[in-house]
Amino acid sequence: MREILEEKLKEIFQDTDFRLERASQEHGDYASGLAFRMAKEEKRSPKEIAEELKERIGENAFFDVDVVGGFLNFSLSNEIIWEEFFSLLEKGEEYGRKKEGKKVVIDYSSPNVAKSFGIGHLRSTIIGQSLYNIYDFLGCDVVGINHLGDWGTQYGKLIYQIKKEGKNPEQLSIEELEEIYVRFHKEEEKDPSLGEEGRKWFSKLEKGDAEARKIWEICRNKSLEEFDKIYEELRIKIDYTVGESFYEDKLSEVIEELKSKEVARESKGALIIEFEDMPPGMVLKSDEGTTYLTRDLAAMSYRIKKFSPDLMIYEIGADQTLHLKQLFAATEMLGWKGDTSLVHIAHGIFRLKDGKFSTRKGKTVHLREVLDLAKKKTEEVIKNSSIEQDLSKEEREEIIRSVGVGAVKYNDLKKHYKRDVVFDWDQILSLKGDSGPYLQYTCLRCKSVLEKGEAYTAKKENLEEEERRVIKKLVQFKEVVEGAANNFSPNIIAEYAHELAKEYNAFYDKLPILKNEKRMAITEGTFIILKQCLHLLTMSLPPRM
Ligand code: ARG
Repeated sequence: MREILEEKLKEIFQDTDFRLERASQEHGDYASGLAFRMAKEEKRSPKEIAEELKERIGENAFFDVDVVGGFLNFSLSNEIIWEEFFSLLEKGEEYGRKKEGKKVVIDYSSPNVAKSFGIGHLRSTIIGQSLYNIYDFLGCDVVGINHLGDWGTQYGKLIYQIKKEGKNPEQLSIEELEEIYVRFHKEEEKDPSLGEEGRKWFSKLEKGDAEARKIWEICRNKSLEEFDKIYEELRIKIDYTVGESFYEDKLSEVIEELKSKEVARESKGALIIEFEDMPPGMVLKSDEGTTYLTRDLAAMSYRIKKFSPDLMIYEIGADQTLHLKQLFAATEMLGWKGDTSLVHIAHGIFRLKDGKFSTRKGKTVHLREVLDLAKKKTEEVIKNSSIEQDLSKEEREEIIRSVGVGAVKYNDLKKHYKRDVVFDWDQILSLKGDSGPYLQYTCLRCKSVLEKGEAYTAKKENLEEEERRVIKKLVQFKEVVEGAANNFSPNIIAEYAHELAKEYNAFYDKLPILKNEKRMAITEGTFIILKQCLHLLTMSLPPRM
């Protein structure tokens, strides 16, 4: 809509800069502050200029113009809204989808082997997948990469401790592995020389020692199995799982390049990269061991060569901001960057409203527990509802999964990624508030209206207030998705979907729909868009609610 309007304005004014903002409902659909910008240069009042601009735009079939306090406010005409709405009905699920776009690589999820899938990685997984779906919808060629944390000194420590405790790694659960690792650190606190043992075992691992490899592999496979279960439950599929270990044989080449291009230099036996405006980053430790940064550099080189992306997104928590800054700067210094845009989507953390969630040690919150609790709570909600009696077992399970998991996902995505997310179960699972279940419920409501009603054809007609409000929301969909992509912000889609659902429910409460062709069409449009929003937010539509 905005595009159409901007184009019309360009036609009238040739190349005047009409950046349009979305206006608040009562002030029309879009606003322009052009008169304020011109007023500065011309030293006249914005109101006077705005009135002149309005004159020049004159009457037209597309929009009305109004001047409020120097702002030009535009209200789309019914004509133009209907036209766009027809296009939505005609294209259905394809509405807003593009065929061609940029090449985009997204690094997301990336949990660490031999540790449980923590709730911190959940944010990365959900936001990353949502960005993936959004870019894919906009025609981009998207590659998703799971940069699994499966290499580094910590695995040397783990192997050392497993051996010391005489454990059979085959028989250890992820929780036990995690506990073993924690025990290592406790003991290391008392006896710092243990750190050396850990490094020795990692060095063995790097050199291909058969025993070290074997133990590492068992731990890795166990973790992957566990992660796969979680991804299955979340209905997340990442194109490539390429862990840090994958770059093992590519590290020496990177080190050589860092040296020959004089990007890195020796310092106290280690190899470091210095930057103008931040602390140095280490790429080789004094014991020759590589680091997280070295492996990320290798991954960068590999991805740029293999995919030539226009855009590379790293969806990683804000606590790694320095690491990403160093990585991006080094990439430039090495001359690898070219035209690739590098972006760090630094998400905030999860917080708990009442602290009930913390694990035994009060450390990381396990995703497994969160998902199980979400499902348990969803089950309680269903038990009290009237649909409970006639559900098949499969249906029941899928409803619980889809609603429970969807609620957790929506709760995350509705916030801007930079902000922290608070867990408040009542709010997360509420059927009325700004929640995932509310969207799913409204979408199913549309579906059931469509199933009950008779065939209809939409015709251009006058619109009542509630009808107009829903249609106006519907035709904003395309610019909302574009805005979400340009700002890496799925929350823009979440907010929009919530507003649309609210408008539809107000319309549903006020007006009889079933025997009215226009209203049936509005219901169909809402169903299409809400369903698409759920997909873009990585959520599914449960069979019933
Ligand atoms: N495994 C890392 C962690 O848990 C996140 C990896 C993010 N991706 C990357 N390319 N560094 O902290």
